[in-house]
Amino acid sequence: MKVTSDELPYEKNKNQQQQGITFRSTSRTLILVTLTLIILTVVPLYYPLHRYPTTNASTSDTNISQVDHPQDEVITINDNHHKCDVFSGEWVPNPDAPYYDNMTCWAIHEHQNCQKYGRPDSDFMKWRWKPDGCDLPIFNPYQFLEIVRDKSLAFVGDSVGRNQMQSLICMLSRVEYPIDKSETKDENFKHWYYVSYNFTLATYWSPFLVKAEEANADGPTHTGLFNLYLDEFNEKWTTQIDDFNYLIINAGHWFWRPALYYVNREVVGCRFCQIQNITDYPMTFGYRKAIRTALKAINSREKFKGITILRTFAPMHFEGGEWNSGGNCLRRKPFKSNEITLEGVNLELYMTQIEEFRRAEKIGKARGLKYRLLDTTQAMLLRPDGHPSRYGHWPNENVTLYNDCVHWCLPGPIDTWSDFLLHTLKMEGLRSAEERSHPRG
Ligand SMILES: *[C@@H]1O[C@H](CO)[C@@H](O)[C@H](O)[C@H]1NC(C)=O
Ligand SMILES: *[C@@H]1O[C@H](CO)[C@@H](O)[C@H](O)[C@H]1NC(C)=O
Ligand SMILES: *[C@@H]1O[C@H](CO)[C@@H](O)[C@H](O)[C@H]1NC(C)=O
Ligand SMILES: *[C@@H]1O[C@H](CO)[C@@H](O)[C@H](O)[C@H]1NC(C)=O
Ligand SMILES: *[C@@H]1O[C@H](CO)[C@@H](O)[C@H](O)[C@H]1NC(C)=O
Repeated sequence: MKVTSDELPYEKNKNQQQQGITFRSTSRTLILVTLTLIILTVVPLYYPLHRYPTTNASTSDTNISQVDHPQDEVITINDNHHKCDVFSGEWVPNPDAPYYDNMTCWAIHEHQNCQKYGRPDSDFMKWRWKPDGCDLPIFNPYQFLEIVRDKSLAFVGDSVGRNQMQSLICMLSRVEYPIDKSETKDENFKHWYYVSYNFTLATYWSPFLVKAEEANADGPTHTGLFNLYLDEFNEKWTTQIDDFNYLIINAGHWFWRPALYYVNREVVGCRFCQIQNITDYPMTFGYRKAIRTALKAINSREKFKGITILRTFAPMHFEGGEWNSGGNCLRRKPFKSNEITLEGVNLELYMTQIEEFRRAEKIGKARGLKYRLLDTTQAMLLRPDGHPSRYGHWPNENVTLYNDCVHWCLPGPIDTWSDFLLHTLKMEGLRSAEERSHPRG
């Protein structure tokens, strides 16, 4: 008999913790002091909060709480942060999740409000990400807001980016809801403001990242035909970013759609346009150029001083057909990492992102800009169970909504992106501290 997937991760965690205590004790004090000084000063004050794991987890009677011992996690993750790749790991059960629901959070987009539309199961909410060599603490909204106090963060990209932003708003909702400071009524360009923290959260809709227009609302596959100006900035966002401290860039799924590729205002090819004379390219052709142009736009903004975070794309999980031919996502459990690998187009898209990221990072570095990866692809590849499927709308609703195996139910696995994001911001604090204590020259 196989060991059930629920049991295995617990064993692994426990062993790692026990070993960890012996190995790490020497550097622990040092790290703790550094951390306390930099960013975590406020944290211990807030731990006794509702639904948060308490620091005296040894008195707890569940195994998960021992694993979730927040002080240990904080230390662990920062102690071996140079060695541990937090983006490689497994999903392990987390009975404490979710941390909000559709009644406590109003920010959930209709089509991702799976509870509302009758999704009967809730197990898909009850997992957390366990990196192979360390622990990733569950999101602490107080800590996050403390770090982003007086700062601003913008999401640029598509509806999966919006999905992430709404998840973040819900994860923060235990502390505070933002007020709407949008300058337009356009839902695609939202400005949210956290009054007590002077923190701005914004979203800029740009699913292709570059200048684009719909040439034909129907097109060869009835999903539109788009003109993509692969070498032109989309000024709707590129002119707006100067004052942001963090940009989270994402794009992916829209590049499946038929498109005419323009460079220098001339058609250089297309993706599945079905026009005789025009060369058909794989989607990575447009994707690569679009990402390159978007990152070039960021590097070219002289006033921009922020950190650019590329959120790698999240694979979709249609099975038994394409998205428009009956494909669906009916699995009810995450994959283990040995059950599925990133391959084919998914791998190509991922590598394209990484290559363009590295390229832009090098260029940006020369003028002091920071680039970071929010490398969510592998974690999300393992979550075929977290999509709305048909629970993104009423069953009898007259809409052309197919089974949605692209977006993520809220609450759901995408909430983990906030864990990753907070980790990234904490690492930033640590890096700056290291730079200060080892000044160059
Ligand atoms: C904790 O795990 C051990 C084995 O690892 C098991 O025997 C015990 O029943 C678990 N306790 C709880 C409360 O789940
Ligand atoms: C939340 O989900 C429940 C079902 O679990 C549903 O009855 C209710 O209408 C939903 N509420 C909102 C505000 O979405
Ligand atoms: C709020 O944050 C902005 C930067 O995002 C800063 O310029 C401003 O001074 C802050 N306001 C207050 C009242 O601290
Ligand atoms: C195909 O290309 C040729 C030469 O470039 C041009 O003369 C012709 O009009 C094009 N045909 C179509 C259908 O665009
Ligand atoms: C659904 O909408 C389409 C056009 O919008 C209409 O032709 C069709 O009759 C509608 N079907 C139902 C069941 O309402």
